[in-house]
Amino acid sequence: MSFWFYFFTFIAGLVAFNVLYKPTPKSVKGKRVLITGASSGIGKLMARKFIQMGAQVISWDYNKSEAVHKELASIAGEESIVSYAIDVSDKDQVYELAARVKKEVGKVDIVINNAGVVSGGNSWEVKDESIEKVMKVNTMGPMWITKAFIKDFVDADSGHLVYISSMASTLGTNKLADYCASKWGIFGYAESIRLELGALGKKNVHTTIVCPYYINTGMFDGVTSIGLMMKILQPEPVVDSIVEAILTNRHELYLPAWMPYLTFLMRAFLPSYIRDMSNDILGVSKSMDQFKGQRRV
Ligand SMILES: NC(=O)c1ccc[n+]([C@@H]2O[C@H](COP(=O)([O-])OP(=O)(O)OC[C@H]3O[C@@H](n4cnc5c(N)ncnc54)[C@H](O)[C@@H]3O)[C@@H](O)[C@H]2O)c1
Repeated sequence: MSFWFYFFTFIAGLVAFNVLYKPTPKSVKGKRVLITGASSGIGKLMARKFIQMGAQVISWDYNKSEAVHKELASIAGEESIVSYAIDVSDKDQVYELAARVKKEVGKVDIVINNAGVVSGGNSWEVKDESIEKVMKVNTMGPMWITKAFIKDFVDADSGHLVYISSMASTLGTNKLADYCASKWGIFGYAESIRLELGALGKKNVHTTIVCPYYINTGMFDGVTSIGLMMKILQPEPVVDSIVEAILTNRHELYLPAWMPYLTFLMRAFLPSYIRDMSNDILGVSKSMDQFKGQRRV
């Protein structure tokens, strides 16, 4: 047998182990989970799930919604949800509110950086303010939030930082240049934080990076999917997978799970013009052509 046979068998074994291995989930009963962007979309669904599992949720959202607060409070009572209005891209607001939460509510156990925005369009058409907003909310916001909580986690050797990135952090996409840049940025930051914690020997401070394909939440209304290969994801199963990844301390979650393997193989073995051609054939290059988005900035 050749070296390559053993090499690829070993890699296939690792991939299978990574996909199939299911560690025992940790309990979040009585834990505090801070979720940004919890007033809508997958943030709200994550809040609902954590409350159902007995956690107390601290909701941070630019559009703090009384209706959503009431809806979440109706699951397990007023004590289970505390809601604040905040712009996560403003570092002064982040540091001030983090200090207030620690004093008024108590020690936070899990921080989920979920708030995000999208602009969309040809790069020269997107307004300067929109590009700045996308970078500030999607990339800088999670950095300020990490800074506000990570030292407590390091000192206690306990805690969990979650970053909702996107499949757009693994590929460039036509008419999503600033959004892709913001998600590649937060992916690199989050992976570096994991390595930093590892180098410090903080084995009980966990990080999870989540990279989903388009989800049907309204954020990407109008996008078209790649036909038979990939469907636009439904929010509920996406949230089930994210919560499971958090409870089992997974470092990375890709939805669909096979996507990074395909991307890796294409990058490793195909010249860029063939990859671009396959994007055209599969319709990836035109996926944003009908994009409307409900909350575009
Ligand atoms: N919907 C998708 O197709 C998709 C795909 C991959 C990744 N994501 C990512 O998932 C996350 C959640 O997306 P969603 O689809 O639930 O979107 P959504 O628009 O339903 O929710 C985003 C939430 O973030 C809040 N928010 C926006 N700017 C904020 C700010 N400056 N400060 C505080 N809160 C702010 C909004 O008020 C909203 O409640 C985002 O980070 C998004 O980039 C979404």
